[in-house]
Amino acid sequence: MIVCANFKANKTRQETRAYMAVVESFVSANDIDDTIIVFPPFTALEHLPRNVLIGVQNAYPAQNGAFTGEITLEQLEEFEVKTILIGHSERRHILGESQEQITAKFRFFAEQGFVIVYCVGEPLSVREEGFSSLMNYIETQFEGIDLTYPDLIVAYEPVWAIGTGLTPSSQDIEQVHSALRAKTSAPLLYGGSVKVENAGEIMALENVDGILVGSAALSASDFCDMVAQASELNTEKGE
Ligand code: PGA
Repeated sequence: MIVCANFKANKTRQETRAYMAVVESFVSANDIDDTIIVFPPFTALEHLPRNVLIGVQNAYPAQNGAFTGEITLEQLEEFEVKTILIGHSERRHILGESQEQITAKFRFFAEQGFVIVYCVGEPLSVREEGFSSLMNYIETQFEGIDLTYPDLIVAYEPVWAIGTGLTPSSQDIEQVHSALRAKTSAPLLYGGSVKVENAGEIMALENVDGILVGSAALSASDFCDMVAQASELNTEKGE
């Protein structure tokens, strides 16, 4: 299983340190061998050996250069970061990233051998049009993306489920994930209002290989609880 915490623009350096201490000791005390990825804000990156992966929520696709306000490969290398989130709905919808920009990021960081957690997901109006519209919409979010990239992880995150407390039904998640499974052999995460109470049920679905959690992962103990649920499921799902 793959369990990810996306902090977004939350937590200070000190809060992130305290959080990582809890998560790292939980992972070692419980011999967790699932893939755990934490995406802190840039300001909380540290150059420390970790027993979980640290990823960034964004970066500019260049070695370095005149890109005011951006962070590039040179700065990520300083922290040995090799994992990145690309295509998150907040970057697409709030920051206005186009599929072209997203594709450029994907190509650049794939060339650098990064683990890429690539997010797709439909707004509510598309969901309401039915399953084939939904899949057509997601298809446009795969334009220019190499679905055979070996270090790819795909996260399905319906826009209307992110930070709203709403989640699709298990059947709806499974329907989308089985369609995604037919397109790529990359592990498939579900994201959007995952919390302690629904994480186990979602991860138990056949074509769900993990979760990407925002607000409910801000509590280290809740995040550890979800990690424990993932690790219990491995035996059941034969992973
Ligand atoms: P949420 O966010 O868990 O707060 O809905 C998920 C995400 O945006 O990755």
